[in-house]
Amino acid sequence: MKTKAAVLYQPQNPLVIEEVDLDDPKQEEVLVKIQAAGICRSDWHFMSGESSISLPAVLGHEGAGIVERVGPGVTRIQPGDTVIFSFVSSCGKCYFCSTNRPSICDLHMSTSSSMLDGTHRLHINGQPITPMGKVACFSQYSVVPEIACIPYESKVSPMVAALIGCSVTTGVCSVSNAARVESGSSVAIIGCGGVGINIIQGAKIAGATKIIAVDINNDALEFCAQFGATHTINASIENVKTRISELTGGLGPDYSFESYGSAETVELACEIVRKGGVVTVVGIAPNDERPTIDPVALVRQEKTIKGTYYGSSNVHINIPQIVDKYLNSELNIDSLITRTYSLDDINIAFQDLNSGLVGRGVVIEF
Ligand SMILES: NC(=O)c1ccc[n+]([C@@H]2O[C@H](COP(=O)([O-])OP(=O)(O)OC[C@H]3O[C@@H](n4cnc5c(N)ncnc54)[C@H](O)[C@@H]3O)[C@@H](O)[C@H]2O)c1
Ligand SMILES: [Zn+2]
Ligand SMILES: [Zn+2]
Repeated sequence: MKTKAAVLYQPQNPLVIEEVDLDDPKQEEVLVKIQAAGICRSDWHFMSGESSISLPAVLGHEGAGIVERVGPGVTRIQPGDTVIFSFVSSCGKCYFCSTNRPSICDLHMSTSSSMLDGTHRLHINGQPITPMGKVACFSQYSVVPEIACIPYESKVSPMVAALIGCSVTTGVCSVSNAARVESGSSVAIIGCGGVGINIIQGAKIAGATKIIAVDINNDALEFCAQFGATHTINASIENVKTRISELTGGLGPDYSFESYGSAETVELACEIVRKGGVVTVVGIAPNDERPTIDPVALVRQEKTIKGTYYGSSNVHINIPQIVDKYLNSELNIDSLITRTYSLDDINIAFQDLNSGLVGRGVVIEF
């Protein structure tokens, strides 16, 4: 079949909207009509060339849709199911899946430019197209692994479901699964966009009592107060280290999170956390950036630095829990969605992401 999709041919060039070929679902795969796709900075990293991907590619990894057809061997999913996409398709068999770390599945990562079997469903002029995260949801339709589909109650809107597919789960699980923030703690978040706001919400759920939002955009800081930030610091006009020290009795926060993606902000996250504190790096820095970290301070101050992919989540357990938290009003996802687009306007959506508009944009017309 044909599907209209947004294709990345060259970094630093706009996505091209065009019809591409989409094969039938193969073994343990399903055909999904996309209903919503969020605009995440991880897509932008590929468009800008800060991250690399085999080209051409169809981006879009924060998505939700409705299952149209299932391929052979599919047992969990049926046509008509509404599903949230996981941008990691865990094999269930490798060392990391077997030790409950499915977000860093070996098979998923070693087949990053294709489906799990190493072949492609998307083509243009006979040439294969990389499906980002094996879900490629900047498209009318996508063929995705069955394991990438998490069914959800259709009373949740597709826009909310899409955001749960990346920013909400990444943010909330970075707090619960990666950092394991304890009740009563102090937390600082550097970079308060789609992901950072969900770290704020996760910290609130975990019972953190001081939640310090750090950003360079005043609008972003004002916006994140409604999600639970107790204090804000504008890093472009205030001295972050001094202000953090004042707010935490000279100690620094128990936990710091980096959710922008640069060497500079990783360094800041490491410097501000208190002795014995935990730094969790969520943002994806440009490929060639390297933070400078003082190894002696690391030792003498017993700091822990950890990275987390997809919030170190097990999506098949954590996403249904997050849906429940949304339905119980513990998570505010509705207010996070501030603008919607048609697929034809996807390049405008990325301009808006980079111009500092607050909240998340979502493509809803395909
Ligand atoms: N680890 C993962 O699994 C995972 C998942 C999703 C996204 N990400 C990454 O997380 C990062 C954030 O993604 P997003 O979609 O929330 O982006 P976003 O653009 O919505 O938010 C980024 C925020 O960082 C702020 N910022 C920019 N420079 C800053 C600085 N020097 N100091 C403090 N704040 C600064 C921006 O003003 C903005 O509010 C990206 O690098 C993205 O690729 C990682
Ligand atoms: Zn994302
Ligand atoms: Zn695996």
